[in-house]
Amino acid sequence: MVADPTQIHFPVKNSMNNTTPALDWVKPYYTTAGEYWGPAGIEDHHRERLAIMERLCGPSPLRVLELGAGTGEAAAVMADAGHSVVAVDFSPTRAPRIEALAQKYTSTNPSIQPREIDDTSLKPLPSEGEVGEERTGRGGESSSRKSPHQGTLTALEADFYDVSLDREFDVVCYWDGFGVGSDADQRRLLRRISSEWLKPGGSALIDIFSPYQWTLETGKELILGRNHESHRFKQRRRLNFDPLQGCFLDTWCPIDDETGLCDESRAITQKIRCYNPADLLLLLENTGLSLAHAEVNGVAISLDPQTTDSTHSIWQAWSYLAQLKPNA
Ligand SMILES: C[S@@+](CC[C@H](N)C(=O)[O-])C[C@H]1O[C@@H](n2cnc3c(N)ncnc32)[C@H](O)[C@@H]1O
Repeated sequence: MVADPTQIHFPVKNSMNNTTPALDWVKPYYTTAGEYWGPAGIEDHHRERLAIMERLCGPSPLRVLELGAGTGEAAAVMADAGHSVVAVDFSPTRAPRIEALAQKYTSTNPSIQPREIDDTSLKPLPSEGEVGEERTGRGGESSSRKSPHQGTLTALEADFYDVSLDREFDVVCYWDGFGVGSDADQRRLLRRISSEWLKPGGSALIDIFSPYQWTLETGKELILGRNHESHRFKQRRRLNFDPLQGCFLDTWCPIDDETGLCDESRAITQKIRCYNPADLLLLLENTGLSLAHAEVNGVAISLDPQTTDSTHSIWQAWSYLAQLKPNA
């Protein structure tokens, strides 16, 4: 119990206005995570991202900027469907995968330079296929969706806080990654999206982590097998939620095959800020972006402040999708 609430220590003084970035862990975390998890290959949820984008932004060829593109599967699916995609990720264990996918899935892009992928230091997954090999999705859906206008995929190993991009995009998307660092860091990124990258009338599509499901799962521990998706190691995952900072904490630790023990020195934790829709509206203030639409699993969330819904699907959602539009 905290006797005096004024003694609660907030490293970030005012989380809606701070200027102190809390990003030091981000690149090391995702670089190591890129070693713990191999590329998953194209799966149904990558194709779903294309379907979401085309449903919300139209099917005609779009110029797309994907931030934090990871190993690039969603970007490759979009390029393969005819869109021109620039995929940015700063992790040296992830960004080269995007280039490898670009080689395989978009054959017409002259800007893609082949690059050697040095994977010799990594333990191969027992079931791992070739980099970028397309797997049949969980639903068994056929993978080849070809467009008469084959798109392009440009991979950039860069930090999205300082990368220079000389064009405007119809869509800026950030799947499954928004919320690292402080609120000021999110605002910095949102301002770049509105003032430098997005065309007037364009859309930012951003997965926003929601606090409720993470709160319900806090304290849970899971053991995940090596073959769970693309995991290179058997791992222990611990879920936690920091109720003061509004962040989930997600800790992964490889388990030694012989001893069955976690090597705690190799545990890595990501800390991600969650925003419910009302908090997101506060975050967006003065960023040049407005919330145009939000949805959970394809079902719209009412943005009407008069609407109260105590049974909403957002209770069970790890995240929801926000469509942001530049202010007129
Ligand atoms: C949780 S992963 C999501 C990857 C991918 N979007 C997906 O859904 O599979 C977040 C990604 O964002 C990248 N990232 C985080 N901060 C970044 C930054 N400042 N610049 C570029 N990439 C960043 C990480 O390297 C990581 O690959």
